[in-house]
This record gives sequence, structure tokens and C-alpha cells, in this order.
Amino acid sequence: MKLDIAILPGDGIGPEIMQQGVATLDAIAQKFGHEFTYHEAICGAHAIDEVGDPFPEKTFKTCMDADAVLFAAVGDPRFDNNPTLKVRPETGLLAMRKQLGLFANVRPVATFDCLLHKSPLKEELLKGADFIVIRELTGGMYFGEKYQDNEKAYDTDIYYRNEIERILKIAFEYAQKRNKHLTVVDKANVLASSRLWRQIAKEMEPVYSDVTTDYMFIDNCAMRVLTEPTFFDVIVTENTFGDILTDETSCITGSMGLQPSSSIGEYTPLFEPVHGSWPQAAGKDLANPVAQILSAAMLLEHFGLEDEGRIIREAVEASLQANVRTPEIQVEGGKHYGTKEVGNWIVNYIKESN
Ligand code: IPM
Ligand code: MN
Repeated sequence: MKLDIAILPGDGIGPEIMQQGVATLDAIAQKFGHEFTYHEAICGAHAIDEVGDPFPEKTFKTCMDADAVLFAAVGDPRFDNNPTLKVRPETGLLAMRKQLGLFANVRPVATFDCLLHKSPLKEELLKGADFIVIRELTGGMYFGEKYQDNEKAYDTDIYYRNEIERILKIAFEYAQKRNKHLTVVDKANVLASSRLWRQIAKEMEPVYSDVTTDYMFIDNCAMRVLTEPTFFDVIVTENTFGDILTDETSCITGSMGLQPSSSIGEYTPLFEPVHGSWPQAAGKDLANPVAQILSAAMLLEHFGLEDEGRIIREAVEASLQANVRTPEIQVEGGKHYGTKEVGNWIVNYIKESN
């Protein structure tokens, strides 16, 4: 298969983990006879420094012309804690999501047996937990009307019927492909926007009668993912709730550095780690490349390249079992492997596998 892939390394640890993501794609291309062409573009703090815009037009065009985007992370402490700044790396990320129409963000939460002890949760609670969170990504408070002066500020949590219908459709379809259990997460006891979500989900339920659908308030869900993570199969929720919930769920598997995601919608699909740019670790060869590598696997699976995705997942699992791990998940007293070593090990595993 021929694929044009836009590469957006971004800031902080982004370029280092991206190198490993691309090396993995190269190994797959070689093994399976695919032709992947990469188109690198700037974004984030990096792009503000170079051209004064965190998501320049040229980068947008590179993304639109590609079949898929592999993204790493953006963010820089120089822009944090300064409420007067209008241009920041994160505004570029939001512009990218909106302009590419990436309304469905899929964040899988899968545990690795050999890492259960690294979770803040008890092993017996977590064993077998395997669910995905589908976060609506281009609506709600993030994009609703905003106002701010010295006395008053607001963000509007607005959702239109078509925005709710299209994300629920994706969620129901994922549930059909998985264990046929969908949990719609909202705050319908307080918020009007949540009540519309719930009303529309109920309207759609009969169309997906093979799916068991239940409804849960976000506060209850935040608790339930910790006390009974095996309850869930597919969770769907609005933008802000999904943002918070997926930070929570990403840490229950032992390390945020393991969690990939996909964002799909109207134009080019995008694949990125759930974690951020970890500026303190930039250039230190410390960051876990696995989330980026698994994001590459999700990219391939998106195009139906299931065997290719499976080999990457197998390689990652094998690296963890062989204790080839970055410091945050290494066993006590075990050798600390760097970003490059972990990536190389995974690439070699792919090359040598049958
Ligand atoms: C995420 C991030 C972003 C978000 C930030 C960086 C704007 O936290 O992808 O979850 O809030 O969506
Ligand atoms: Mn977040």
C-alpha cells in the first residue's frame, strides 16, 4: 500500500519519540512491501518561534494533502502561567482538530499483564480491563462562545444535534465491533447539553439493538473507572469530560507513556500519543516511545493493515516482557533503557519476526 503520511513532531520529547514511530513504520514498510512517504511539518511552540503561528497554513495543507497524520505532542512552559498570551502551542492543537474536522478521538485503555503492578490500582481490580473512551473533540466548551473581562468570564458548552449524532454513531459502531456495551457519560442531572446527548442516544438505541447501552453521570464514571474498570467496553462522552476522564484512565494502566489515540472525522485522520510534550525530559533520551509506536499501529489498522498492527503490538508486548523499558516502568533494580534503545529493540523484533 502507498501512504503519504504527514509527520508533526512538535515540541519537547516529540521529535525523539517521533523518530521511533517513523523507524517502526519503516520496518513495517520494508517487511510488508509498502511504500510510506513522509512529509514533515512544524507545529506548536516551535512553529510560534519560527513563523508566529502554532498551526501554520503550510502545515494545514501538508495534513490535508496526506492520507494520515502522525502527531507527537505540543507544549512549552514558556507559554504556561501567562493568561495574557493569545497565541500558545495549545491553540495550534485546537485549530488543527477543528480545521481537520477531527470530531472523534478514540483513546483505548488496554492493560499489559506484566505491568499490572505499576498501576496505582490493585492488580486484581485491573486484570482484564480493556475499554476505549471516545471523546468528542471539536465541540462543547472548548469551541463554544467565550467571553472574558476583569469581572466576568464564560465558556459556552454548546452542542448541535448533528455533532451529537455523528459521534454517537461512531460509538455505537465501535461497541458493535467490540463487546457490544456502550456507556454514554454525561451530566444530564444538571446540564442541558447533556440532556440533549441523552435524548439523542435514546433515540438511536433501537437502531443498535444488539448493543447494551447504559447511561452514567461523569462524576460517578470518574469513580467507577477506578473501582470497577472491567465494567466498561466503550465509553462515549463530550469534549471536556473526555479530556479529564482520559487522563485518569491513561494512568491506571501503569504509564501514560503507553497510551496511543486516533482522531477521525471529516478530513485526514490523525494519530497521536495521549501524553503531552514533557519539556523537562526533552533531549534526554528518557521518554517512552511506546505510545507513539502504538499510535503508528493504530494508523496502519485504520487503513485495514491488521497484520502490520498486530506485529507492532506483539513487538511492544515482547519488549515489556523482556524488561526493555524506559525508567518510569522499569522493574526495581532493572536497567534503564533509553527512548532509542526501546525503539531499536522494537524495530529489530519486527525485522526478525516471521
Ligand atoms: C489533550 C490535551 C489538550 C486538550 C490540550 C493540550 C489543549 O490535554 O489532548 O487531552 O485539552 O484537549
Ligand atoms: Mn488532556
